[in-house]
Amino acid sequence: MADNDKYPTESGRRRFVKGVVGAGVLAGVGSGAAAAIGTATDPTGAGGGITEFVGIENTEGPAPRGMPVIPIQIADNGDIGGVWPEVQTVEEQGQEIQIAETQLGGQTYSSEWFQYCGIQTYAGIQPDADQENTFFSAADSPYDWQNEELSEGDPLNVSQFEDYEGFETGVGTPGGKPAMANWRSQDVEGSQTIPVQVIRSQEVIEMRQQGGPLGEFIQAATTEDGFMAWLDKCTHFCCVPAFKAYSDSTRFGAANDVYCQCHQSVYDPYSWIASSFVALPRPEGDGGE
Ligand code: FES
Repeated sequence: MADNDKYPTESGRRRFVKGVVGAGVLAGVGSGAAAAIGTATDPTGAGGGITEFVGIENTEGPAPRGMPVIPIQIADNGDIGGVWPEVQTVEEQGQEIQIAETQLGGQTYSSEWFQYCGIQTYAGIQPDADQENTFFSAADSPYDWQNEELSEGDPLNVSQFEDYEGFETGVGTPGGKPAMANWRSQDVEGSQTIPVQVIRSQEVIEMRQQGGPLGEFIQAATTEDGFMAWLDKCTHFCCVPAFKAYSDSTRFGAANDVYCQCHQSVYDPYSWIASSFVALPRPEGDGGE
């Protein structure tokens, strides 16, 4: 997994040729942004560039920013999934390309939020990829409940999370039930699996009441009964962190947070921030018309 974020490529301004005009794409770089914006080189590929996103906050360790939130959607049968933005065609650098982008809760929610750590090359990140948005149970979960009750590839369903209040993972204080999942990754090579973490917790329900600049987005991206999710790729060197999963997190004050074992980055899933980074372009030639 290349850490290409260190040497970002910035692609130019775009204009929409079909679909909704997305005026906010390059405007208003978010609060708390520590990203190396303005590091412009010759653009290659499709999509990417300075991208404002909403993520769970990075609170400790070397990670440069939070991990991007995935808005939740619940199917009629209770299966849990992530919202994929609306596929649109835009003109960028004089070429028509596809992007997936939607206005949601006052934010521009874009597939570009996920274009880092090599994910920009994954099949499932292509805007019009024929992929399911359901979250499917991951192999080798760090959570006993998931390994005991689910098999790899089983859909996550709200019925599996009814005991979320006071739930114990063995790390941190009881409360909040997590799971590891894959998203938009059916029939792809294993290395192209998009990792996701899901939590149902009382803190999410409380977070929905807090208002503030991201209040509308939090309402739109979580559920009334306390589900939330994020792309689970550490923004440092692309490891897969986990919430209340690893006992060594207690040594770093992260027993109740999302902890990355690689270099001890810590993320608070209940503190959402608007930030920005330079999303990497998808490989050249993809998604064009
Ligand atoms: S802290 Fe380095 S990869 Fe997560």
